[in-house]
Amino acid sequence: MIRANIVSKVTTHILQGMKLKGEKIAMLTAYDYSMARLLDEAGIDIILVGDSASNVMSGYKTTLPITLNEMIYHASAVMRAVSRALVVVDLPFGTYQGNSKEALHSAIRIMKEAGANAIKMEGGKEIIESVERILSAGIPILGHLGLTPQSIHKFGTYVVRATDKKEADKLVEDAHLLEIAGCFGIVLEKIPAKLGTRVTKELKIPIIGIGAGNGVDGQVLVLHDMLGITQKFSPRFLRRYHNLSEEIKGSVRAYIDDVKSVNFPNEREQY
Ligand code: KIV
Repeated sequence: MIRANIVSKVTTHILQGMKLKGEKIAMLTAYDYSMARLLDEAGIDIILVGDSASNVMSGYKTTLPITLNEMIYHASAVMRAVSRALVVVDLPFGTYQGNSKEALHSAIRIMKEAGANAIKMEGGKEIIESVERILSAGIPILGHLGLTPQSIHKFGTYVVRATDKKEADKLVEDAHLLEIAGCFGIVLEKIPAKLGTRVTKELKIPIIGIGAGNGVDGQVLVLHDMLGITQKFSPRFLRRYHNLSEEIKGSVRAYIDDVKSVNFPNEREQY
């Protein structure tokens, strides 16, 4: 059995095999060289250069302001660090919703200028023409349904999506459309666990959840959230594996004390 953690490079083909074998897929975000290197060395399957960079790297309230050039900057840094994980890059808001020609141009820039392995796009039926055009150029796409943060102004809130039948039916229909078009996987964000399981069973391609329960094929979290660097964001789906914000502040306070008390540098730390 080929296990993803011993392959030299994770591909969309490997991910498909993992779904077939019931091996779960682990995905995290990264936006810079140093973090991406650590994630890759630790054996993560997929690194997402998410447009959540808009929040955690740039301090914006939503994912809308980040530009294509900024995404390419982050993605290029990640690509220089990664040798094993599949690297997926978000197409940012406003670079693919207009028309499919513009969408293809944006996707090509990410693949060419950053050297990414695949792109991610939010939406179903509304963007299917762009999805098909990008796929026809040989660019792998990861879909994204459920809570799609680029549409936050339409939703008006970050509450759980698809809790009613109408929205759940549309989500299932969109998921099938994306699979038929040729997407290699779909991210489902903040939806009822039962719906996540249903989509996972109905579709052949891998389904990666973030707040979509444990019946999906894999999980994704925003790195800064799971490491406890972000402090105020605490949705139910988030498991914090560390409290880095306190550790970092503690180290910085110790450094400040050492500098002020002339305890740093000591004899061994100077020439
Ligand atoms: O931008 C991002 O980090 C994402 C994940 C939340 C899936 O889209």
